[in-house]
Amino acid sequence: MTQDELKALVGQAALAYVQPGQWVGVGTGSTVNHFITALAGIKAQIPGAVSSSVASTQRLRAAGIAVREADEVDSLPVYIDGADEIDGQGCMIKGGGAALTREKIVADLAARFVCIADVSKRVAVLGGFPLPVEVIALAVPQLQRRFAAIGGRAVLRAGVLTDNGHPILDVHGLRIGDPAAMEAELNQWPGVVTVGLFARHRASVCLLGTPTGVQTIDFG
Ligand code: A5P
Repeated sequence: MTQDELKALVGQAALAYVQPGQWVGVGTGSTVNHFITALAGIKAQIPGAVSSSVASTQRLRAAGIAVREADEVDSLPVYIDGADEIDGQGCMIKGGGAALTREKIVADLAARFVCIADVSKRVAVLGGFPLPVEVIALAVPQLQRRFAAIGGRAVLRAGVLTDNGHPILDVHGLRIGDPAAMEAELNQWPGVVTVGLFARHRASVCLLGTPTGVQTIDFG
């Protein structure tokens, strides 16, 4: 199976976590795009979706699914999204698609985070994928110095501004053995908007697409 077929497999499997009659939180990315396609097939069962990006909003609306923004709901039973990496505790690196801030906001509303990912995303230690960090532009040089001091090479993502109008630093060379501690530390650095580490908002469940089918990992 191709990587895209594995993404389609978990996108379909995620329907089992959508609660009839309830709004569902929807992430961003190529795996979530498959989920949105599957969700369109059961759209009559839900009032709609809470979106994490302009791109997902457009795709949801094109599929005939009603959309609300994060500030229009109080809570969600479930948030479904992909990841760039996921470790053995359900901690993730996200933001490869630049949607990390709104993704974290919608994830914060949800009782459960269901991660959908192909098997290539499963790692022992986070950090092989460069860590995306949404930042205030004025802080870029100082943040690059700060990352260098902890062994990271922070590269400005060329030609990209987020849906919130901010640049992204992709930080190479970090080995993230304690994701919660690093997330807490980086959140204190002036000019950081959102760190693409999801440790406080780690996955409750991961649906991992493998060549032999969907593996469900429950992180409790
Ligand atoms: C978007 O900013 C990201 O957090 C995505 O969820 C992540 O990059 C996974 O994307 P794919 O599903 O396209 O691999």
